[in-house]
Formats: sequence, structure tokens, C-alpha cells
Amino acid sequence: MCLSYFGRLALGAALASLANAHPAFRGRILSRDTDLLSSYDYVVVGGGASGLTVANRLTEDSNVTVLIIEAGELDHGEDFITIPGLAGGAIGTKYDWNLTYVANPSLANRSVSIPQGKIVGGGTKLNRMVFDRGSELDYDRWEALGNSGWGWSSLLPYFKKSEIFTPPNADIVAEYNITTDTSVHGTDGYVHSSYSPFIWPTMKNFVAAIAELGIFTSVDGASGNAYGAYFTQHSQNPANATRSSARDAYYNNFVARSNLHLITSRQVTKLVTSSENGSVTVTGVEFAESSASARSTVSANMEVIMAAGALHTPQILQLSGIGDSTLLSSINVTTIVDLPAVGRNLQDHVLLAVVNSITAPLTAANLTSNATYAAEMLALYESEYTGPYACATGDFLAFLPVSTYSTAGEAIYAEATTQDSSTYLASDTPSEVLIGYEAQFNLLNQDLLADNSAMLEVLWDDGAYILGLQHPYSRGYVKAASSDPFTAPLLDSAFLHNPLDLALLVEGVKFTRNITRTSAIAALSPVEILPGATVTTDAALEDFVRSNAATVYHPVGTCKMGAQAEGGVVDEELKVYGVNGLRVVDASIFPLLPATHIQSTVYAVAEKAANIIKGSDITA
Ligand SMILES: Cc1cc2nc3c(=O)[nH]c(=O)nc-3n(C[C@H](O)[C@H](O)[C@H](O)COP(=O)(O)OP(=O)(O)OC[C@H]3O[C@@H](n4cnc5c(N)ncnc54)[C@H](O)[C@@H]3O)c2cc1C
Ligand SMILES: *[C@@H]1O[C@H](CO)[C@@H](O)[C@H](O)[C@H]1NC(C)=O
Ligand SMILES: *[C@@H]1O[C@H](CO)[C@@H](O)[C@H](O)[C@H]1NC(C)=O
Ligand SMILES: *[C@@H]1O[C@H](CO)[C@@H](O)[C@H](O)[C@H]1NC(C)=O
Ligand SMILES: *[C@@H]1O[C@H](CO)[C@@H](O)[C@H](O)[C@H]1NC(C)=O
Ligand SMILES: *[C@@H]1O[C@H](CO)[C@@H](O)[C@H](O)[C@H]1NC(C)=O
Ligand SMILES: *[C@@H]1O[C@H](CO)[C@@H](O)[C@H](O)[C@H]1NC(C)=O
Ligand SMILES: *[C@@H]1O[C@H](CO)[C@@H](O)[C@H](O)[C@H]1NC(C)=O
Ligand SMILES: *[C@@H]1O[C@H](CO)[C@@H](O)[C@H](O)[C@H]1NC(C)=O
Ligand SMILES: *[C@@H]1O[C@H](CO)[C@@H](O)[C@H](O)[C@H]1NC(C)=O
Ligand SMILES: *[C@@H]1O[C@H](CO)[C@@H](O)[C@H](O)[C@H]1NC(C)=O
Repeated sequence: MCLSYFGRLALGAALASLANAHPAFRGRILSRDTDLLSSYDYVVVGGGASGLTVANRLTEDSNVTVLIIEAGELDHGEDFITIPGLAGGAIGTKYDWNLTYVANPSLANRSVSIPQGKIVGGGTKLNRMVFDRGSELDYDRWEALGNSGWGWSSLLPYFKKSEIFTPPNADIVAEYNITTDTSVHGTDGYVHSSYSPFIWPTMKNFVAAIAELGIFTSVDGASGNAYGAYFTQHSQNPANATRSSARDAYYNNFVARSNLHLITSRQVTKLVTSSENGSVTVTGVEFAESSASARSTVSANMEVIMAAGALHTPQILQLSGIGDSTLLSSINVTTIVDLPAVGRNLQDHVLLAVVNSITAPLTAANLTSNATYAAEMLALYESEYTGPYACATGDFLAFLPVSTYSTAGEAIYAEATTQDSSTYLASDTPSEVLIGYEAQFNLLNQDLLADNSAMLEVLWDDGAYILGLQHPYSRGYVKAASSDPFTAPLLDSAFLHNPLDLALLVEGVKFTRNITRTSAIAALSPVEILPGATVTTDAALEDFVRSNAATVYHPVGTCKMGAQAEGGVVDEELKVYGVNGLRVVDASIFPLLPATHIQSTVYAVAEKAANIIKGSDITA
């Protein structure tokens, strides 16, 4: 994809021997099932971004007991986790579930892999640390779909609540003219939000190219107008340029709370339910260390809180008899609550790399080509917390409306408005999901040409343009493949099933060439390697997209918030329909993807969820 990315992985392995072991971790981390209390007020399933956030906030009340059950382990502060320049290095290790989307006929039958964190901290230990927000309209659409209290102005206080913002340092401000709007940031939260102290120099060319094309750079992309370009914050501790994960933010400093328990290496296998007088209540969860080991159970006095992420939360519901009765009977699971929408509405940002070779004095490739330079830069990182290893990339991002990046907008809009919304959905899509999708489809069409809605992300990486389709029309699903919880779920991204998505990406490839033609990029003597200058017709570009598209790792929407009659799985208090004592607080509940990397939105949603559970939502 891009050289620097692979370069980082290789270095990660080389540096593994240098891994600075952290002191033994102390606290209420339980290793034996017999250490657990027999019941907790709340049992949180999954210790990732959302689960650790909610568990932290609930245990602020010392009367409230919370158990987090996490399938993965605690990390050991490995370099590939803590060092921003090696971010992503945990992909494909034991900290990754190693999932793949099923072979997709719209992607030349390829199976695209979809990494997911299996580790305390979840995706926030694997991710590339980009910490940005969507624009106002992205969240106002959630509200327009019937979820009151979930628009931009309602979420902004929670975005702020989750972060500790640090402005960029004077050197980097002087070098790049970075501006910030401190009024939209919080300083009392737990996740560090800061700027890289080092940016690869060709980023200046990209910044100038964006200006040359007349695209505006926002004062601060976090202020609700992320539909131009902006300098990006990262989830990075500026004191020592290390990753600020959900574990660092919401767990490590709170292990002394005796009411907060965490058990690791335990996979939740199903929810325990009781049915009385026609009413179903979740009373606890069943879990196990491995498929061979005995199952244990623990009770929840108040609620079970699902935070296993958008790909596992629906699987666990299905295995517990909460889902589509047709699917459940096909895998021999008895239906307890027939909720056909569970696992539907899967959306993910589609990634595509257009790669140019460039000629520049210094790029990330120097780290792999010059071992002396790499060693010097590592020493600089360790002594002064700066230089390339302090940089996770993606420091300046463009999020472009269709009108900015394509001249085919009207034609694509015309095609969209003649479509029947159900045409490209799976033939077994439940009727209420079709109804809900039609509402989404109409909103997407309404805003397709809007200047305040970004459709395409463009991330510059030393000659590579990493594109991300922000508001895909296609919808996939998650289905438990078997009643065995240790069998991976069947995941269909449905990427590019709707030809509108393909057209929107083809236009993106064309636009990278407009960027390449600016004098600012031309100064780098770019030569297009992928797809290559000879690939020009729409048909050839479509083939390129189908053969190369992958994921930006942002699956959401599989237990969406919304009316049950419109395929909602949870209501606006995040309670699962038809069941008492069960909420979902993770990325599954997003009704629609926002045009941004999604971790900061996951944190904001989880902060709001915690307040809703406590009865103290500040922005109902
Ligand atoms: C490789 C990668 C790169 C990314 N890059 C970025 C980025 O740069 N910027 C950004 O904003 N976002 C990024 N993201 C997305 C972001 O990290 C996720 O959206 C976010 O972590 C999702 O939070 P969550 O709470 O929904 O799920 P997660 O953080 O995934 O947490 C779910 C947790 O539940 C656990 N779990 C699952 N099933 C079970 C079970 N049965 N029993 C017990 N535990 C279970 C998992 O092990 C995991 O720890 C990236 C994600 C990945 C994977
Ligand atoms: C904790 O519970 C006790 C007994 O129910 C009650 O008196 C006390 O006020 C509670 N404390 C908090 C912080 O809620
Ligand atoms: C993911 O794959 C890697 C490489 O094969 C393996 O080492 C790791 O254990 C796998 N992860 C899990 C959770 O099985
Ligand atoms: C994809 O697989 C199907 C079924 O096996 C086959 O008919 C089709 O030709 C394949 N398409 C491509 C592009 O390989
Ligand atoms: C920053 O602003 C100064 C003064 O306006 C200008 O000379 C310089 O080119 C700008 N730098 C960048 C990277 O835009
Ligand atoms: C970075 O600093 C934080 C405190 O600000 C500390 O908790 C953490 O352990 C440090 N990380 C490393 C790798 O030194
Ligand atoms: C169920 O109904 C019975 C008989 O009416 C009653 O005694 C019992 O309390 C009810 N249980 C619940 C959980 O409401
Ligand atoms: C379901 O049960 C039937 C009958 O016991 C069995 O034949 C079938 O293989 C099972 N299916 C699955 C998916 O486990
Ligand atoms: C980086 O690579 C470029 C291009 O190969 C080369 O000209 C330059 O000397 C290299 N610099 C270092 C420090 O390795
Ligand atoms: C490699 O890096 C060293 C240290 O920065 C530098 O002196 C040297 O010129 C570089 N080599 C090349 C071939 O660029
Ligand atoms: C891209 O460049 C071509 C050729 O100059 C031009 O016709 C087209 O309008 C440009 N696209 C956009 C979206 O500006």
C-alpha cells in the first residue's frame, strides 16, 4: 500500500528486542474465575474503547460495582503499541482477532481482512491514533433519523468530556501555521489529544496543493466543519509522545478503585436470560477461557453492557437468542427475542490507495533505507520525544464534499435518485431494516451534493493518497456462523455492492491526479505507480478499485440506534428492544458513519451512555 507503512512494520519487529518491559501491573485484575464476586451491579462485555469508558464513569460512584470481561490480554508496553511511528504494528499479532470479511463479488471476489483489537484497550491499542471528529451534519443526521439528543450540539460536550487537549508546540506551529480552536476542546478528560511534534516534510507540499486547489483549511477540524482540510489531533500523550489508549486513559489510573474489576483472557459466550410473564431479562453472562474450558457465569444486578465492538456485539446477542429467528434456527439457537435487525446495517469506510513515487530529500522511506538514520531518529525519540517515531502519520487530512472533488456529482445524484433503495441490499434483509435504510438512503441523497458533507477522505503519505469513502450506500451484515462462540462470525462488508460507491471512488482516483498536477506536488516529480497513468477509462478505473479496495477499519451500525420499526436494535437510551437489563454502548449503535476516523466518536458516545445510565445526561 504505502512504503512507509510496511517500513514501520519491519522496524517494529527489529525493535521488539528493545521492548522496555513495564513494571508488573498491579490492581484489581483478576486471573481466576473464583476471584470474582458472584454478582456485580454492571457487567461490561469487552474492555475496549467504549467498555473501559463506561466502566470508569460508572465506578466513580464507589457504591457501584462493575466487572469488565475482556477476551484479550493486557499488553506489555511493546514498542509497536506505544511508539506512534510504529502504530498499527499490533495488527496480525495475538492482540488482533484476525477477522476477514467474506469473499465479495464486487471486489473481484477478494476477502478483505478486518483487524479488531483483542486486548485491554481494544481497537485503541491497534489504531493509527488519528483523533478527529465528523462535521455537524454527520451527527445531526443521527438526530434526523429519530434519535433525539444525538446531534452535534448534544455530543459536543461529550467529545470535550473525553479529552485532554494540548495545542501544538511552538516549533510545529511556526513550521506549519497550525491553528486551533480551544473552545471546542476539553482539558479535564482522560484521552490525550495532541499534535505530532514532527511531520514528514512532504506534507508541506500537500498542504500547499490543497490551498492551490482552493480548498479551505479549517481553523480546527474538531469544530464541526470538517469538510475541507485540517491539521489533525492524535490520541497521543505529548509528555513522552506515546499512545494514549483507552487503557491508558480510562483504566490504568483507576485500578485502585475496589469496585472496578477486570478479568482478562475470558470470552463471553452468551448472555444469561430469564423469561417470566412474557418479559425477558438479562441476569448475567456466561464466559470461558477457551472453547475447551468449562463455562463460568456471573450475575448482573442492574445491567449487562455490551461493548464488544461492532463485529462481536451482534454475534453475542445472536448466540444468546436475541436476533433474527430465521438465522437463529439455522444455527440451532433458540430464539428468545425475535429482533431481526441485530447484525444488519453494517457500514465501514472503504479504503483505496493511489500510489506515486516521489523525489524528496526526506520521506518515511528513509527509515527503512538508511539504518543509521533510523537509529539516530530512535535515539532522538527516546531522549527528546520527537522526530519521525513521534509521528503516527495522517497529520493533515482532507475530507472533501463531492462538489469539491468531482465534476460528476450531478450525474451520480441523478443515478442515486432513480435507484430503489432496496435494490442492492441482501435479498434476505428484514422488512424493518429496509424501511430504516430507505430513510438513510433519502438523507444520503439529500446531502450528496451538500457543501457541508464530506464524501471522500484524502490522506497524504509521501506520494501515496489513501482515500476513504465516507458515506457508503452499501450495507452488509454480521451473522453468527455457528452456535459455537469460538467460531468467528460471518462478516459481509458488502463493499461496493451499490454502484454509487464505486462511482464515488472512481471520481476520487481521478481527483488525486488533479492534486498531483498542482505545482506544489509537481515539485516532487511524482510518477503514478498505482493504478498507473495508462489507466484512464472509467471501466479500467473501476477494475482498479474493485481489485484494490480495502477497509479503513471503521465497522459500525450493527445494533443501530433507532425506532424498532425502522430496524433499530437499541432505543435512544441504548437499551436493547424487548429485553430488560441490556444496553449496547459501542460502535454498533452508530446509525450512520460520520466522515471521520471514529474513535473520538466512540468515546463521546460511551461518555454519553455512562451519563444516561447514571441518570445524569447533560444534553438530553
Ligand atoms: C487497525 C485499526 C486502526 C484504526 N485506526 C483508527 C484511527 O487512526 N483513528 C480512529 O479514530 N479510529 C481508528 N480505528 C477505529 C477505532 O479504534 C475503533 O472504532 C474503536 O476502538 C471501537 O471501539 P469499540 O468500543 O466499539 O470496540 P473495541 O475498541 O474494538 O473494543 C471491543 C473489545 O471487546 C472485546 N471482545 C470482543 N468480543 C468479546 C467477547 N465475546 N468476550 C469478551 N470480550 C470481547 C475485544 O477483544 C475488544 O477488546 C482503528 C481500528 C483498527 C482496528
Ligand atoms: C451508598 O449507599 C449507601 C447505602 O445505600 C448510601 O447511604 C450512600 O449515600 C450511597 N453513597 C453514594 C455515593 O451514593
Ligand atoms: C492472529 O494471527 C497471528 C499470526 O498468525 C497469530 O500469531 C495470532 O495468535 C492470531 N490472533 C489470535 C487472537 O488468534
Ligand atoms: C467470482 O466468483 C463467482 C462464483 O465463483 C464467479 O462466477 C465469478 O466469475 C468470479 N468473479 C471474478 C471477478 O473473479
Ligand atoms: C505560514 O505562514 C507564513 C506567513 O504567512 C508563510 O510564509 C508560510 O509559507 C506558511 N507556511 C505554510 C506551511 O503554509
Ligand atoms: C508516558 O508518560 C505517562 C505519564 O504521562 C506514563 O504513564 C507512561 O508510562 C509513559 N510511557 C512510557 C512508554 O514511558
Ligand atoms: C410473574 O407473575 C407472577 C404471578 O402473577 C408474579 O407473582 C411474579 O412476581 C411475576 N414476576 C415478575 C418478574 O414480574
Ligand atoms: C442443527 O441441529 C441439527 C439436528 O441436530 C444438525 O443436523 C445440524 O447440523 C445443526 N446445525 C448447525 C449449524 O449446528
Ligand atoms: C533519504 O532518501 C533520499 C532519497 O533516496 C536521499 O536523497 C537522502 O540522502 C536520504 N536521507 C537520509 C538521511 O537518509
Ligand atoms: C544516512 O543517514 C546518515 C545519518 O543521518 C547520513 O549521515 C547519511 O548521509 C545517510 N545516508 C544516505 C545514503 O543518505
Ligand atoms: C480535474 O482536472 C480536470 C482537468 O484539468 C478538470 O477538467 C476537472 O474539472 C478537475 N476536477 C475538479 C473536481 O476540479
